[in-house]
Amino acid sequence: MTSEYFVVRGTVEHGDERGRELGFPTANIALRDQSGSVGDGVWAGWVQRPGGERLPAAISVGRRPTYYGADGYRLLEAHLLDFTGDLYGETLVVWLGSHLREQQKYTSAEDLITALKNDIAAAAQWTASHPAASLPEPGEGELGEVRRVAG
Ligand SMILES: Cc1cc2nc3c(=O)[nH]c(=O)nc-3n(C[C@H](O)[C@H](O)[C@H](O)COP(=O)(O)O)c2cc1C
Repeated sequence: MTSEYFVVRGTVEHGDERGRELGFPTANIALRDQSGSVGDGVWAGWVQRPGGERLPAAISVGRRPTYYGADGYRLLEAHLLDFTGDLYGETLVVWLGSHLREQQKYTSAEDLITALKNDIAAAAQWTASHPAASLPEPGEGELGEVRRVAG
């Protein structure tokens, strides 16, 4: 069976540090194309660090409508499952594998946290059935450029 992935390579930038406050730190990557071939949404996928280590992730692509309305800067944010550490400055490869849901504007941080917990559970399940070794070659591409890659 072939599956399609969106793949992005990008360098981790400093965010607002709110992710840490919420209890769900994210690696933020700027997207080159603000309209983009990939729509806003939440995804299950994999993240590869410069050394080759691959970690399961719950990934958000969008403008963080809860905090910035519709006018926010569009970016990719990856929350790595079962990981604590510093990723700033690292160039990561991100595979977006399974679209989980659309971006929502939540009325409270608690509601966002509940949604994040569900996303993480869904990402854990999806990555367990789509192991890192089965991912397609990411190819090269510009930093922050979203590409479609068939597996
Ligand atoms: C898996 C995942 C799903 C997310 N879903 C939403 C969402 O539906 N709505 C939203 O406003 N922000 C969403 N976010 C973004 C959070 O608002 C953001 O991570 C948080 O504000 C921290 O931002 P910071 O890294 O700039 O500090 C999501 C983030 C992740 C990792």
